[in-house]
Amino acid sequence: MKIALAAGTRPEFIQFEPIVREVKKRGLDYLFIHSGQHYDYEMDKIFFDEMHVPAPTHYLSVGSKLPGEQVGEIITKSEKIFLEEKPDLLLVTGDTNTALGVALAANKTKTRIGHFEAGMRSFDRTMPEENNRIIIDNISDYLFCPTKTGVENLTRCGLTENLYNVGDVMLDSMLHYRENIRMPSQVAGDLGLKEREYFLLTIHREANTDNETRLRSILGALSSVQCPVVFPIHPRTRQRIRQYGLSLPENFVTIPPQGYFEFLRLMYHARMLLTDSGGAQKQAFFLARPCVTLRPNSEWMETVENGWNILVDSDREKITKAVAGFSPRGTPDLTLFGDGHCAEKIIDKIMI
Ligand code: UD1
Repeated sequence: MKIALAAGTRPEFIQFEPIVREVKKRGLDYLFIHSGQHYDYEMDKIFFDEMHVPAPTHYLSVGSKLPGEQVGEIITKSEKIFLEEKPDLLLVTGDTNTALGVALAANKTKTRIGHFEAGMRSFDRTMPEENNRIIIDNISDYLFCPTKTGVENLTRCGLTENLYNVGDVMLDSMLHYRENIRMPSQVAGDLGLKEREYFLLTIHREANTDNETRLRSILGALSSVQCPVVFPIHPRTRQRIRQYGLSLPENFVTIPPQGYFEFLRLMYHARMLLTDSGGAQKQAFFLARPCVTLRPNSEWMETVENGWNILVDSDREKITKAVAGFSPRGTPDLTLFGDGHCAEKIIDKIMI
């Protein structure tokens, strides 16, 4: 059996790490397509270096483009690879333009598709990712959901064939690298930041970055926080802040995007996380750190219902209140995201 793996953005490199580890452990024949959607060292290669993900076998160099052009180029280039390499199955994750483009190319070349992180929904069709994931789920042959919610969402749409709740690959990595993640943060040390005395902030969603009012509201709310806000800044966000002529509040400590380990160490030792990322909401839950989500909705409602995540949108008052008083009790129920053996289960199923 020959498996094609495809990724192109920061979260996908992280999500593929346990899958590639499992594929290599079993000595399976694979090809690894990298679209090049992300290309800066801190958004791309650092994850391969740090997590020992093997180098891609096929690099598409698409870079940043208009979304349609980007998806189109990914389809055209990966279709050629599928025709030449004839893999038995493609594995993609989540909802990026890369996952959509490569999945469409697989569909056109009659290559079976396994979609992991399937079935997740924000029910917000203004998000490009929501449309991407709906299309990918509908053309996939195997649907690997990370949670019970994913299975329920797909069942409601009649997508019940080869539908499995396998748990979340991000929990696999988190447990695998547990010791390493709990080490002191070098960045926090260098900046003289004390444990639990700083907030960690990430913003990169189009809905927040490409809307000046929302971005101003979030930054404004956080300017009154009494302790430092560590802000590893995504390239898209950096560009928009410059474009809108915004200046960052004085309590902000801006740093470049961080690799897997340093970002999680910063999170583990922070007082709380403020984010619009999906993956970071889960990582905060796994690390038992309170998460304030700068969106009106979430694909990861288990983290909200379990009491560790709160949705505040870009509302200044809600952000201020959450930052001052959000303090979850007890311990997060990690079993909601599986048992840390998600990658094994995915490979088992596609090998049948
Ligand atoms: C993409 C995914 C999103 C994921 C996110 C993680 C889609 C539709 N969205 O969003 O689901 O959560 O990745 O980061 O696929 N840029 C650089 N250097 C890079 C990469 C991007 O400067 O290495 C800049 C470019 O100006 C680019 C912009 O960031 O236009 C946005 O990048 P893009 O990949 O289009 O979207 P993300 O916001 O990263």
